Amino acid sequence: MSESLVAGRTILVIHGPNLNLLGRRQPEIYGTTTLDEIDEALQQAATERNFEIVVTQSNYEGALIDQIQRYGWVASGIIINPGALTHYSIALRDALAAVPAPAIEVHLSNIAAREEFRHHSVISAIAHGTIAGLGASGYVLALHYLMDLVDLEEAQAGE
Ligand code: DQA
Repeated sequence: MSESLVAGRTILVIHGPNLNLLGRRQPEIYGTTTLDEIDEALQQAATERNFEIVVTQSNYEGALIDQIQRYGWVASGIIINPGALTHYSIALRDALAAVPAPAIEVHLSNIAAREEFRHHSVISAIAHGTIAGLGASGYVLALHYLMDLVDLEEAQAGE
């Protein structure tokens, strides 16, 4: 774990399978913003508010679960786009349910308006909330929401 990790002001960001291809993967569905650009926008928003983010992308379910287990007790929130794992990974769902950090599920596309097999998410029921169909800005909105939660808690603790 990084020495600079500040407990309470760290958000874990997880990008699932195939999201490394953003920018050139079906741009008519996922847009032309690359994953690096999304991560830069998240980094900037976090820095402006004195938060830290830990970002992971993997095409492997187990690697995502390892990160959730590693940071799920330290981070104060998780932003996750599970990619196709959304629709069937009970293992990923169980990992998210096991840790105290609240998870916001993010999808670039509006999965409810796409093929039937994308309509169901096994993650949504254990997620704190879901943002779908807002493209790359969905990630930044999720981050601001989680940072608001932390700031609110800190303000209440200081009262
Ligand atoms: C996705 C939607 C999933 O159905 C798909 O498998 C993805 C991306 C989205 O961001 O819209 O990989 O999670």
